Amino acid sequence: MSDAMMYPCNFVIFGATGNLASNKLIPALYRLEQANRLPASLTFIAFGRREWNDKMWREHVMTLLHDKLKDRGAEDVCARFVARFSYLQGELGDAESYQRLKEDLGKPRAGVCSNVIFYLAIKPTDFSSVIKNLDKSGLSKPRGMHRIVVEKPFGEDIESAQYLNELLHRHFDEQQIFRIDHYLGKETVQNLLVFRFANTLIEPLWNRNFIDHVQITVAESVGIENRADYYDKAGALRDMLQNHLMQLLTVVAMEPPPALEADALRDEKVKVLRSIRPIAKRSVHAHAFRAQYAPGAVGGAVVQGYQQEPGVEPNSITETFVAAKFYIDNWRWRGVPFYLRTGKRLADQTSMIALRFRHPPQQLFRETPLETIDPNWIVLSIQPEESMRMEIHVKQPGLDMDTRMLQLNASYRQTHETPLDAYETLLLDVIEGDRTLFIRFDEVEWAWRVVDPILKYWEQERDFIHTYRAGSWGPQEANRLFDSEDQEWRNAL
Ligand code: BG6
Repeated sequence: MSDAMMYPCNFVIFGATGNLASNKLIPALYRLEQANRLPASLTFIAFGRREWNDKMWREHVMTLLHDKLKDRGAEDVCARFVARFSYLQGELGDAESYQRLKEDLGKPRAGVCSNVIFYLAIKPTDFSSVIKNLDKSGLSKPRGMHRIVVEKPFGEDIESAQYLNELLHRHFDEQQIFRIDHYLGKETVQNLLVFRFANTLIEPLWNRNFIDHVQITVAESVGIENRADYYDKAGALRDMLQNHLMQLLTVVAMEPPPALEADALRDEKVKVLRSIRPIAKRSVHAHAFRAQYAPGAVGGAVVQGYQQEPGVEPNSITETFVAAKFYIDNWRWRGVPFYLRTGKRLADQTSMIALRFRHPPQQLFRETPLETIDPNWIVLSIQPEESMRMEIHVKQPGLDMDTRMLQLNASYRQTHETPLDAYETLLLDVIEGDRTLFIRFDEVEWAWRVVDPILKYWEQERDFIHTYRAGSWGPQEANRLFDSEDQEWRNAL
């Protein structure tokens, strides 16, 4: 079969001039071009509000590639890439723009088929308008044919997520819908499946008998990057925790699936979400903590506080930091706290999953009393480093029986191997129609159900939010979530 018959040939990016398209999608699509993975027949339509034409858009893409990618490679690859694009100036809510899109898509192009990928790289508040307009203009038809990619957050709470899902299903079948969470495309997250299920060494230890607690941290040193109109309504819990961190939690905690197939994997992830102990209203304080960055300094540069960011409501109490504790009440994890934490303008740009083991049951090494022996850890670094570290005790060389901690470090990307951003993998999956790393609606729904009591409680507490200095590791008060005094956040690998 030729690729023109196998794959969609038109790729429409709604929100082409926005942050997501510029930072992630276009560089990732370019990398696929570089790797010769884009079907020859694939063309892109950039749908944006700005009064641009094809030429201006292509220049914009060239500048982007120049700014974002150090190794752009040969000029002919860049030229081939930008030549795939055309630009369509339009408004997301304007029916006439969709008519023009339809005409554009209908133009005969040699060897090009008519199936389309619609990528919604737009604010969640615009999703329903685009879906309705696609339908009104006949662009969602014939049913079953095109693909639609929806970015997170999928809804802003459980009710709006259900509404959005129902709206999508009015016009698209489930196998046409790709709900994206780019954290699932990250190398370490995929490697976690291999690490857990391809190594018999690890799996027997991966449970409540050996593990004291789990920490999942996604720390960002960046601020909100001119996204106030979206972020000030969303906050860290909706922007990161309900989706990215919750997905990481499911991959850490799930049982082995019967096969590495889309639905088998998603079934196991849903079981984890369903097993998370619901947080009662009176326990929200003990389970969740939010805060907002105040002015400070990041990497030596003075930065403003969240409330001074352009477009943020004065006195906004939107959280830019959230920490939460969950228990998974199943056979494997009962009693093991999972601590999740994410924030903007923190001291470092780093994401990791860290599992702390229990103390050994007996004190054999008298010179090193049990309390002072640090427990073992497994630390999976997601970014910027992609590695797996294991901390074990060894005897210090010398006459005494003293121990010290040794780190076994397995960085699994060699220095000459280019790091891929998660979007390359996921965009290729969309083009090839593989939904394994995309989210099924019941996952979204259960994830909302887990965080819903926190959201509802915070909505009522509208007059105060803790702050933290930009460039710090967040507020001390977040430590109140820990179950015991010997637990603390791990900030470094
Ligand atoms: C996005 C969030 O989904 O993920 C952003 O909306 C965040 O606020 C980004 O900065 C982080 O992604 P990554 O891949 O840079 O860790």
